[in-house]
Formats: sequence, C-alpha cells, structure tokens
Amino acid sequence: MALKIRKEILNLGVYKAGKPISEVKRELGLDDVIKLASNENPFGCSQKAKDALRGIVDESYMYPDAGNFQLKSNIAEELNVRHEQVFCSTGSDALIKVICNTFIEEGDESIMAEITFPRYEASVKLMGGKCIKVPMKNNGLDIEEMVNCINEKTKIIWFCNPNNPTGTTFNKSEFNKVLSKIPDHVLIVMDEAYIEYVTSENFPDSLDYISDYPNMITLRTFSKAYGLASLRVGYGIASEELVGYFNRVIGPFDVNLYAQTAAALAIKDNEFLQMVYDKNKEGKEYLYNEFDSMGLEYAVSDANFVFVNVETDTVQLFDNLLKRGVIIRPGHLLGTPEWIRVSIGTMEQNKRFIKELKDIL
Ligand SMILES: Cc1ncc(COP(=O)(O)O)c(C=O)c1O
Repeated sequence: MALKIRKEILNLGVYKAGKPISEVKRELGLDDVIKLASNENPFGCSQKAKDALRGIVDESYMYPDAGNFQLKSNIAEELNVRHEQVFCSTGSDALIKVICNTFIEEGDESIMAEITFPRYEASVKLMGGKCIKVPMKNNGLDIEEMVNCINEKTKIIWFCNPNNPTGTTFNKSEFNKVLSKIPDHVLIVMDEAYIEYVTSENFPDSLDYISDYPNMITLRTFSKAYGLASLRVGYGIASEELVGYFNRVIGPFDVNLYAQTAAALAIKDNEFLQMVYDKNKEGKEYLYNEFDSMGLEYAVSDANFVFVNVETDTVQLFDNLLKRGVIIRPGHLLGTPEWIRVSIGTMEQNKRFIKELKDIL
C-alpha cells in the first residue's frame, strides 16, 4: 500500500471484546444465552434514567450540550468536588486514550500491572510509549514494586483498584506507604471502574487523596454498577488545570444526549445503587461457596466478577460453556491460561453458570 501507516498502529492488535449474545445465538443456533463476560450490570439501570430516555427521543436531531453541564454538576454534587474538576467522555476507555494523548510522547515509559485492564497498554503504545509491566503478587497489584520501577522516563502509573480481571484491591495502608515515593512528574491514574461494588474495609477512595496530589486522576464509569454500558459514558476527576488540558483533547460532543441525560439521573439514584451492591454481594458469596465446594482457587473480589482457577485449558472450557449458552471471559485473553473471569449475574444466571461448569469439569 502506498499510504504510510504509523508504526505504532502496525504494532497494535484489535481489542477482543466479550462475544455479544446475538452472535452466539446466531452462530450456535441457541435461543437462551447469558453473558457473564463483560462485567455488565444484570439488574439494568435506574428506572428514573429509563423514563427520562423515553422522553427525549424528539430531541435527537440536536447536538447535545458540549459542556455536559447537568451531568458534570450532578457528579460534582454527589462526589463533593468542584464542577471544574470533572471531565467526561465516551466511556472511561476513551478517557484512558485522552490521558495518553495528553501525556505520552515516543519513548516515554508507563507502569502497569502484568494482568490488568488491557486498554492502558494499547493507549500507551498508540502514542509510541513503552509499557513496563510488573508481575502480580497473590493475584493483586504489587504496588510497591510498581513504584520501584519509576525512573525519569516514567510518565504514567496505572493503579486499577479494584483490578480487572482479578477483582483484587490494595488497602489504604499499602497505598499510603507507596504514595510518598511517587515523584510529581509521574501522573497517578486511579481507575476505579468498580468502586461501587467494593466490600473490603480500608479501601483507599482516591477522591480522599486528590486535593493533596495534583498529579492524581480518578477514573470512573457508568458502564458497571450504573448499568449504562451501551450509552458509553465515563468520567474523571482531576485538578482544574489537568481537566483544562484534557478538554482540549476530548471531542465537544463525545457524550451524546442519551448518555448525558441517563447518567445525570443515574448518579443521583442511590437506592438503585444499594440494590445492585446488595445483590452483587449475595451473588459473589454464592459463587465463592460453590468454588469452595468444587475445590477451585479464586481471588477475593471487590468487583462484580470473580477470577477463578479452573485448572484446565480455558479455550476448550470457553467453547463448551458457549455451546451451553453461557459466555465467560477465557484466560487466554487475560494472559492467564487456566483462570477465567466470570461476571456476577442474577442469582438465576449464577446458578446456571455453576451447573454448566460442574457438568463440564
Ligand atoms: C478497569 C476498567 N477500566 C475502564 C473500563 C472501561 O469502561 P467504559 O469504557 O465502559 O467506561 C473497564 C471496562 O471493562 C474496566 O474494566
């Protein structure tokens, strides 16, 4: 081809997302399929958000508010931060890219866990940066070793807490111990996509730190506990100065009308969030009990999924579960050939997954 593609693009793979239910139905001729592969919320979203969505269809012909005023105001109010500290885009996935677009130049280093959300690596590489991947410690982030890897080339350190795909968290005292060792030329990204599900005590909510660390950013999403994954809306909290730079990169209309409207209401619906938290906790305990009785090792999770060692080739297991209408996240896509990640579903879905897993194993 005569066109010259950037070398960073040539070296990138395409992200392999969880298989959609429609594809599995079509390919395998099944009519009852459940998806426990992408950590979506099986309880849907806030009724208030749903009702509002129905009412705005006639406004579809207009561009949405480029300033995301109501959404940012509601986020700021709920989280007790200033409106100017909030930035939003098309899922926190897009914000990861925005952060890398803003900071990473060719040859810059970025530190992340070996087994973590793969979009950090892709976004760093897209900008010509180099990823330093730090091995896991008991399935969790080895934050001490991650911080030890910082040098003058380091631009960003990614703390995914709870970590995807392991579900593990580090606690306040572990975090406090390493924070003072991070120099202020390093951006600290706290990806808290699953924070609403955390059950562990002493979890370090990054918003408690952000005013003391102008080099820290919090990333959160409406895709998980708020149940709005299809609308694609994520947000971040940072210093006003950083937000000013990010807003130069974020597209003016990235968050569409439906996303802004639903998310602005969802963040206010604490009753819905509590229901989701309770049901997720119940589902998690059910899965732990079942894995215990099967003698399977798992990582203690603070998220809406469990990372479990099935002690078998997960490519085969994935196919077998698929034929039975259950979609999970297989280990070969996570870098852990014998472990799978299963999202916590409704109790009915959890029971169905366990039944099929037992049958297969
Ligand atoms: C840790 C983590 N961060 C960010 C995201 C991106 O979420 P979204 O782009 O839907 O906001 C995900 C999605 O799975 C995730 O697991």
